[in-house]
Amino acid sequence: RKTLYFSRHGESEFNLLGRIGGDSDLSTRGHKYAALLANYFNDLAIPNLQVWTSEKTRTKQTAEEINAPVDNLVPLNELNAGICEGLTYEEIQEKFPQEFAWRDQDKLRYRYPWGESYLDIISRLEPVLLELEREDNVVVISHQAVLRCILGYFLNTEPDQVPYLKVPLHTIIKLTTVGYECHVDFIEFKV
Ligand code: F6P
Repeated sequence: RKTLYFSRHGESEFNLLGRIGGDSDLSTRGHKYAALLANYFNDLAIPNLQVWTSEKTRTKQTAEEINAPVDNLVPLNELNAGICEGLTYEEIQEKFPQEFAWRDQDKLRYRYPWGESYLDIISRLEPVLLELEREDNVVVISHQAVLRCILGYFLNTEPDQVPYLKVPLHTIIKLTTVGYECHVDFIEFKV
């Protein structure tokens, strides 16, 4: 039996503006989530707890107050949206209507120009997934697309459905595995 915890970073300044990618700071609400998340784990005082974040400011800030060693891992960085980084979905639709339509037709395989696809994330995540298979009591603080790929792996989701998995902000996703059985709990925080 083992337990892994997953969370997106707290709400970021870019989330507030509806802009994708980038490396913005947490918003005030995002910082409040970071404090609640830390309280949750600090109260549990899980032995040998480890925290893995991406290399982005927003995931590092989310992990800051948790009493456990933190590793910053490049493969946990969010989907690189290439020429669309920093834009809103409306701006993408306006500036790059063809790209927007292609993505809608095949979200799993669509690769942003100079960026990545969901399939690209899945392949760069492979070493992290192998590590997670072996570890217990890890808190992974990452991003929407990356967490969809990780959950899809553990839950055996149809690949085409992976880009649509629900990974809301301000929610801990607790994964407990017993043998090959996987149990998922969503622990929502009112921030
Ligand atoms: O909007 C937050 C975000 O993490 C973006 O940085 C990223 O491009 C996007 O979500 C991924 O979600 P989707 O694949 O649904 O566009």
